[in-house]
Amino acid sequence: MAETETSGASSPAPPCTLVIFGATGDLTSRLLMPSLCHLHHSGLLPKDFAVIGVARSDLSDDAFRQRLDENVRKASPKIDSDDLQWLLKRCHYVSGSFDDAKTYGAVAARLPEVASTDGSGDNVLFYLATAANEFTSVVQHLGKAGLVKEGEDYWRRVIVEKPFGRDLPSAQALNRDLLQVLTENQIFRIDHYLGKETVQNIMVYRFANGMLEPLWNRHHIDHIQITAAETLGVERRGAFYDGTGALRDMVPNHLFQLFTLVAMEPPVCFDAEGVRSEKSKVLQAVNFYDHKDVLKNVVRGQYRAGNVGDKHLDAYRAAPNVDPHSTTETYVALKLMVDNWRWAGVPFYLRTGKALHRRRSEVVIRFKHAPFALFRDTPVERLPPNDMILQIQPEEGVLLRFNAKVPGPAIHTTGVGMRFSYGDYFSSEPNIGYETLLYEAMIGDAMLFQRADNIEGAWRVVQPILDAWKKGGADLAYYEAGSEGPEEADELLARDGRKWRRLASP
Ligand code: BG6
Repeated sequence: MAETETSGASSPAPPCTLVIFGATGDLTSRLLMPSLCHLHHSGLLPKDFAVIGVARSDLSDDAFRQRLDENVRKASPKIDSDDLQWLLKRCHYVSGSFDDAKTYGAVAARLPEVASTDGSGDNVLFYLATAANEFTSVVQHLGKAGLVKEGEDYWRRVIVEKPFGRDLPSAQALNRDLLQVLTENQIFRIDHYLGKETVQNIMVYRFANGMLEPLWNRHHIDHIQITAAETLGVERRGAFYDGTGALRDMVPNHLFQLFTLVAMEPPVCFDAEGVRSEKSKVLQAVNFYDHKDVLKNVVRGQYRAGNVGDKHLDAYRAAPNVDPHSTTETYVALKLMVDNWRWAGVPFYLRTGKALHRRRSEVVIRFKHAPFALFRDTPVERLPPNDMILQIQPEEGVLLRFNAKVPGPAIHTTGVGMRFSYGDYFSSEPNIGYETLLYEAMIGDAMLFQRADNIEGAWRVVQPILDAWKKGGADLAYYEAGSEGPEEADELLARDGRKWRRLASP
């Protein structure tokens, strides 16, 4: 396992070949290629590097390069031409179907050839940019073709990306299938939220600053809100989304990344096993719901037509490839309790939705009120509480809200804010979020990837919700596109005497 740096510059990844299954798709030209260009620009790709694209279309190397050139420039018009040319020269192509053994034979034949022209050696990173239902078959074929067998001085790794199943049994089955061919150390399961600087930084805020940890518990924190709000509707993804919904699409993966990073204990060491074990323990401590609890603590909503800013959005049910009577949720809000010494009695409220008032992902740590009202005419209930807001996107930084005296002879208090913005401190390099993940996979550091037990632990929390919804009784709440979400989500907190931080608030 490569050593992880906690500060300072990093060195280039070791020589390797990246083999992308599904190389003519959107993910490759929109995310992977631009990320590789950025990595090269920052000196983090090895000079001995090659890409082999694999897909069904019948293309020559040159035709593949030309197609990538066009599609990458279309997706990232500001891409540095020198970086792109450097990368395109190292791109090769194998055409074939993913369920045909011959395709893997062709990849096996191409690898040494490419390794000798580009000097990329025997290290190979396979990236499955395919439909999720092809993961098992591709990995089995890789195994049969001997492509994932490692040697003493070279590695073979496989990157897969969500969805990892659509419920607990299918996630367990997928893990079982992958682990029949690969060792856990060879599997890099991507959750792109972990590629975001601000998400990674949650660990640094918590564990590089002595002042926070003493407050980070049930004695000082009243509750925590985790939000991932989007303004976009379902767009062109109706066919996928209508069978998936907001819960499966966002909660056991992206929202739980934020949740576990905020709630976990300090790991004994800052490495893949240390961090991932602590994240799993948080999920184990979540109080599971029965049918009645789900109906009480989880809200499912769907957007109706409305205006997001000055743009009109049709109702979800009118989106292409969505059933006009669909009851799929585009919004979900839930309350979770973590039964451990740190968090007993502290609710975690999570919400995510499409077509909302504002795009905003953040974590609000709401501290308890000051213990009594020292100031005349300022009863403690009326003092605004202290908040620490970890802003993930699009604002990136930390906001602290506390009380201060209004200038004047009388003692009057008001809530004020103190803000740290990334942009004020760091010059921002173009960053898609996949740069870090690709680099970490190349150096073999799995801290930012999901271990099998992280995935299953998350589905274990979500499964009772899926079961209860299937059984019935969970009414769909409606909200207008461009709003703050359904009223029922406000009621979830109002019952506990609390309120969501408004998406519209600064
Ligand atoms: C994806 C979901 O995993 O994450 C999408 O499938 C969602 O529905 C997206 O829009 C959100 O990611 P980000 O980085 O835009 O917050």
